Amino acid sequence: MSLSLGFPRARHEFARLWTLPGVYAPQEDTCLLAEAVRSEVAPGTDVLDMCTGSGALALYAARRGARVTAVDISWRAALTVRLNALRMRQPVTVHRGNLATAEALGPFDLVVSNPPYVPAPDPGLPARGPARAWDAGNDGREVVDRLCAAAPGLLKPHGTLLMVHSALCGTDRTLQRLTAAGMRAEVVDRARIPFGPVLRSRLPWLRERGLLGPDETTEELVVIRAGAPAAPTPRAIREPHAARDTHRPLRRIHP
Ligand SMILES: C[S@@+](CC[C@H](N)C(=O)[O-])C[C@H]1O[C@@H](n2cnc3c(N)ncnc32)[C@H](O)[C@@H]1O
Repeated sequence: MSLSLGFPRARHEFARLWTLPGVYAPQEDTCLLAEAVRSEVAPGTDVLDMCTGSGALALYAARRGARVTAVDISWRAALTVRLNALRMRQPVTVHRGNLATAEALGPFDLVVSNPPYVPAPDPGLPARGPARAWDAGNDGREVVDRLCAAAPGLLKPHGTLLMVHSALCGTDRTLQRLTAAGMRAEVVDRARIPFGPVLRSRLPWLRERGLLGPDETTEELVVIRAGAPAAPTPRAIREPHAARDTHRPLRRIHP
């Protein structure tokens, strides 16, 4: 794990977390999002950590007094959050599932998410394995787009979505999707980080697709904040059930 950005508070908290094998350990994207979460959470805030992984953001919010629900498609992640919540003595409600699961549990004041967002040579989503934490189809938007569409239905009136992703999967597209879903969306933070091992392993493919220039050696992370309208918006797109994310055949796992 590399937590090189200057987020001492989040970095210190996340360093204490356990992660079972195959579960995403908190990284720069987690830390960047935590900074934004800090200013949105107050005691009693109803928070959903969608795509929770180790539960880093869920526990970060719980420690600040929020009532937190954590959802992840991976049973290893769900178990990891439960273990970390027990160790940290924080009450977090954990569910293994997807956006449809979360929709049934909401609505929430605040939805935070660090979803898979890395463009991948294989279309669709991995059925299992560590790559499920980052691979998100050819344009990296398989889960991001579903989250944008589902966000109004996950939130209470005036609720807030905070999501982090790489600019590689299209910052403007996310802003447009959220606006189309009836939300007021903006970028509230950005950070440049060196390529990690996953991006390095597919640089020729990313350059061939025009997602990266020949001399680029860093990627930009963005935190997007979107506000729900005053009245609930009809849920535009639903994931029918968790199996929707698991219909793809098993693929090679990138370290
Ligand atoms: C980039 S990791 C983020 C983990 C953690 N929130 C963090 O910031 O450190 C993405 C997580 O999303 C989960 N995931 C992938 N697709 C999902 C889906 N459709 N529904 C729920 N969780 C999903 C993965 O299992 C993984 O734990």
